[in-house]
Amino acid sequence: MHTEEIKSLLLKYNQAGPRYTSYPPANHFTTDFTSADYLKSVKSSDSNGNQSISLYFHIPFCSRICFFCGCTTNKLTAEELVQQYINAVIKEFRYISSSIDKRREVTQIHFGGGTPNAIDSLYLKQIIDSVKSELKLNSNAEIAIECNPAYLDKSDIDALKSAGFNRFSLGIQDFNPEVLKVVNREQSKLPVKTLVDYIRDDGAASVNLDFIYGLPKQTVESFLENMRMAAEIKPDRLVTFSYAHVPWVKKAQHILEKTGLPSADIKLEMLVEGYRYLTNNGYTAVGMDHYARPDDSLAIALEEGTLHRNFQGYCTRETTGQVFAFGLSAISQLWDSYAQNTKDLRTYIENIDGNKLAVERGYRLNNEQIIVRAAINQLMCNMNINFNTFAAENSIDTDYLKRLLRFDISNFTDFENDGLVKVSEDGIEVTRMGSFVVRNIAMAIDPFLEQREGMYSKTI
Ligand SMILES: C[S@@+](CC[C@H](N)C(=O)[O-])C[C@H]1O[C@@H](n2cnc3c(N)ncnc32)[C@H](O)[C@@H]1O
Ligand code: SF4
Repeated sequence: MHTEEIKSLLLKYNQAGPRYTSYPPANHFTTDFTSADYLKSVKSSDSNGNQSISLYFHIPFCSRICFFCGCTTNKLTAEELVQQYINAVIKEFRYISSSIDKRREVTQIHFGGGTPNAIDSLYLKQIIDSVKSELKLNSNAEIAIECNPAYLDKSDIDALKSAGFNRFSLGIQDFNPEVLKVVNREQSKLPVKTLVDYIRDDGAASVNLDFIYGLPKQTVESFLENMRMAAEIKPDRLVTFSYAHVPWVKKAQHILEKTGLPSADIKLEMLVEGYRYLTNNGYTAVGMDHYARPDDSLAIALEEGTLHRNFQGYCTRETTGQVFAFGLSAISQLWDSYAQNTKDLRTYIENIDGNKLAVERGYRLNNEQIIVRAAINQLMCNMNINFNTFAAENSIDTDYLKRLLRFDISNFTDFENDGLVKVSEDGIEVTRMGSFVVRNIAMAIDPFLEQREGMYSKTI
């Protein structure tokens, strides 16, 4: 595959459409979905769908705010506020877990942010300890944390490991100090290789590195240099995020416009060149921007067709359960609904202190949407769907499934002519080239798409 070939394909299929990180996407959530609706879904989750429990805890604090940041976070000020927030999160967790069947097992806990390691690890331990006291933790549970390496040294890693963490994701963004300086970000406290080696020293923990392409002062060559340096460090996983510039939502991003941002064409080249470099240097591509070493569980799940996805990223079908999320802006993903908490720190703490939940918006899926969500997930993650197998797994009739997806082989002629899919009455198989535009292919089996036109940005 040549860079130009992939670029022209991406440009050809650069049409407006959902990203399918959830189904339906978060812009369909509405405020008439309330805390009471969420609680109803929590209770019915005991008898519906996957019984494993995934927990997400949002830690909305950072010592310094990066100008590019698109996350829900706040500058760390008073320590009492952190303690108040953690108390509220634990209270919210205890309340929800009291409605969950205690025979279910927690297979996954994810701490995201903000920067969970910007606060004392004892706060995080308090949360993990309350999980252990309220629910059954599977002995192989993945306990993951997103860290900023600017605040991470060996003793922090020891403390996080003794609190129970076994998956570390480090936000590198760029190794170049000049890029970090213009985006108001501190450099890693220790060399990243030292951190990664130390985390993996005991063989019990794995490491992911996050990068962003599309920041000021980055070039295709400088981004590739980042990928070369990363491949030498050999993290288990790596993500290259496309910089999302939304200054109308995140005002600080305007500051980056003064230095200037790489054009869409340059960004596309960074994506494609990064993809080529990493796949030629020991990594398996998982989707368009996630990479894993071939012995990592994500790469194995992709190979076995059991890859899954939620708001926290890709995961495996064995470990992922229904997601119960706690804290600011956190999104729960249950069998029949999504529920998102408020993004305002004061409102969140006041609600929880006042014995209320803090759901601000959400969505209830009907039975048809639950099936479509699973089918789109299967195609987006595993790059194929066999209608007979899928129908049997979901205890439905194959013809009903195809009618539901409005499957019509003639809708795939263009994709087939471009070598992006192999399609038959039995199913759809996405080719390696097709994986770059899998979102467009998924749109062809999304029966609710036309009701929502005009709500989406373009693919690139
Ligand atoms: C919660 S942060 C990770 C932990 C920590 N706060 C840090 O920055 O190192 C999650 C990731 O989101 C990505 N991110 C943040 N703002 C973004 C934006 N505007 N566009 C694309 N990716 C972004 C970054 O790569 C970051 O590592
Ligand atoms: S450290 Fe992470 S969460 Fe905090 S401002 Fe920077 S990118 Fe955002």
